[in-house]
This record gives sequence, C-alpha cells and structure tokens, in this order.
Amino acid sequence: MFFASDNWAGAHKSIAERLLAESTGFAAAYGAGDLDKKVEARFAEIFEREVSVFFVATGTAANSLSLASVQRPGGIAFCHTAAHVIADECGAPEFFSSARLHGVPGQDGKIDPAKLAEKIAAFPQTAVMHGRATAVTITQATEVGTVYSLAEIDEIARIAKRDNLPLHMDGARFANALVALGATPAEMTWKRGIDMLSFGGTKNGCWCAEAIVFFNPEQAKEMPFIRKRAAQLFSKSRFIAAQFDAYFQDGLWLDLARHANGMSDRLRAGINASNSARLSWPTSANEVFAVIPKSAARNAVERGAKFYEWPVPPATPELVGPDETLIRLVTSFATSEADVDGFLDCLAA
Ligand SMILES: Cc1ncc(COP(=O)(O)O)c(C=O)c1O
Repeated sequence: MFFASDNWAGAHKSIAERLLAESTGFAAAYGAGDLDKKVEARFAEIFEREVSVFFVATGTAANSLSLASVQRPGGIAFCHTAAHVIADECGAPEFFSSARLHGVPGQDGKIDPAKLAEKIAAFPQTAVMHGRATAVTITQATEVGTVYSLAEIDEIARIAKRDNLPLHMDGARFANALVALGATPAEMTWKRGIDMLSFGGTKNGCWCAEAIVFFNPEQAKEMPFIRKRAAQLFSKSRFIAAQFDAYFQDGLWLDLARHANGMSDRLRAGINASNSARLSWPTSANEVFAVIPKSAARNAVERGAKFYEWPVPPATPELVGPDETLIRLVTSFATSEADVDGFLDCLAA
C-alpha cells in the first residue's frame, strides 16, 4: 500500500529490459548516438512539430534550466504559490536562472489569471528597482492533483504573451494530465502557447528520465551551454534515450498514466462511498487528498500503508476537524487494485 509518492514506484519492466538491451556495445557519447537522435525525432512526432530536446536527470533540473534559458538580469518568474519550483526545489530554479520566483495565488493549485495580470503589472520592464517580469511557469498536473483545462492554459498564455513573457510548463506528471484531459501533447502545450516543457518520465515508470522540450528551437540556442554548465550533460546519454524509447513504444507512457489515474479514480470512488472519510477537494490526475479520522490514519500506518499527512491549506482551516487529518495519496503505474482496496479497508475498520 504505497501511496507516499509516484516516485516510490520502481521502473516498468519494459523500460528496465530496454536499458539492459542497450547496455552492451558502443555508441557515440554526449547525446550524439543513433538512439538519442531516434528519440529526439520521436518527441517531434509526438508533439507534431519540430522540437529541441535536452535530457536531464531530475525534474528540478528540467525546471531550473528551462527557466535559466529565458532569464535576463533582474528577472522575475511567476508561478503558483504552492508550485514545486518555489516550494520544493531548495531555490534551484533561482540558483541556476538567477531569476527570483514570485508566487501567485489561485484556487485548486492553479494560478488565478487576474492575479497574475496584477503581479506582472507590478514588475514592468523598466522597473530597475523592483526587477522585471521575465517568465511564467505553470504545473500540469498541479501539485494538488488538479489539471488546468485547455481554456485555462489559454487564459494564462494570453496574459503572459501580452507582455511577451515565455510560458513554461512543469510536466513532472505530464502524462497523467494528458490522459485526464483526453488531449493530445500538442493541444496541451504549444497549441496553447507553452514555449518550453519539463517532460517527466521518472514518476511514470522510467528509472530516471526527464527532458526539456523547446517548441521553438530558436529559443534553445543557449541550452547546450546552460545544461553543460549545470553538469546535466550525460556522457552515456543513450541510457536516458533508451528509457524514453521504451516509454513511447506502443503508447506505453499513456497506458501507464491511465492505469495510475484509474487507481486514483478507484480511491476517489471508495472514499466518496465511505462514511468516515471524504475527499478534501476534487482531483482528476493521480493524486488524491482526503480528510480521514486520525484513528483511521493510525490504523492504516499500522497495517503498512505509506502516505503523507498533508498541511491544511491556511485559507481553509475548517477543512479538517479536531479528530481528523488531511492526507495525500499518490498512485502510480505500479499501484494495484488490491493496494487500493486494502487501503479503503483500513478506513472502514
Ligand atoms: C510537480 C513536480 N515538479 C517537479 C518535481 C521534480 O522532481 P525531482 O527533482 O525530484 O525529480 C516533482 C517531484 O516531486 C513534482 O512533484
């Protein structure tokens, strides 16, 4: 019953086998090998346009270097107040990009467009003392399990583009958002105005595979140098390529995300049906937030369930009663129906 995070899950068998299959022989290093080129071409097919792709090791690196690629002195990058980039990356995006991150509030883990417009206006291009707006970043799926609709991305893009601000998407859970929306990769990104994407594979069945995808290769010109200086250029890059090659084969990546989301649907249905627990807010990807009795949480832990108790959002202290706790449950490609049903049993007991 592992619901602590999707990166607690191992790697999918097909991806592990592909790594082994690619582990013999020789291939050009530093991204120049045939497999690297094949996978870059595959990204272009998936996104239905020319793209520039840069493999990196972690989601934090993908976010940090994406933001670094568009920064100018005195830059401010806007994100949601609870975004991973501002809350959980130890300042790496600021360290690598030299931009300052500025949090914008909004319901359901999504940036409020009107507040974004206000914040951007507070940092005009001539504001030497305050710094200037230089980028906007959104997370899809969000940190609280919700998903921006295509229309919501359009609205954020419209505001960013009004001031010529590049728009980045943190897609650590890109596949989960995609299948939740039923959109194509192109529809959820460049067709909406996303300029660069942190494309996550690790949480959804890879060993360690993340990529930065630029939809306008012109914007990626400095990236080879930015990545190398950040020590993220892999000599044996073919092993990241191998993971993505298996990940994309026969739509495996989408199947894995559908499974993970389906397991969250099962949790959501079980919690909705329970008379002791309730969903704290609606989610549609592979994360579920629920309010459960503290006694049920203890019971689940004793039975071996792994999950995190979550801080109650300060704006809604009434969400959780005195004998209750807020928990986060994350499902993955490796979650089974038995795991979900076992957890639901703990709530019932
Ligand atoms: C929304 C989001 N972005 C980025 C990351 C980056 O992860 P890492 O640097 O641990 O690979 C995570 C990981 O939990 C995440 O949840």
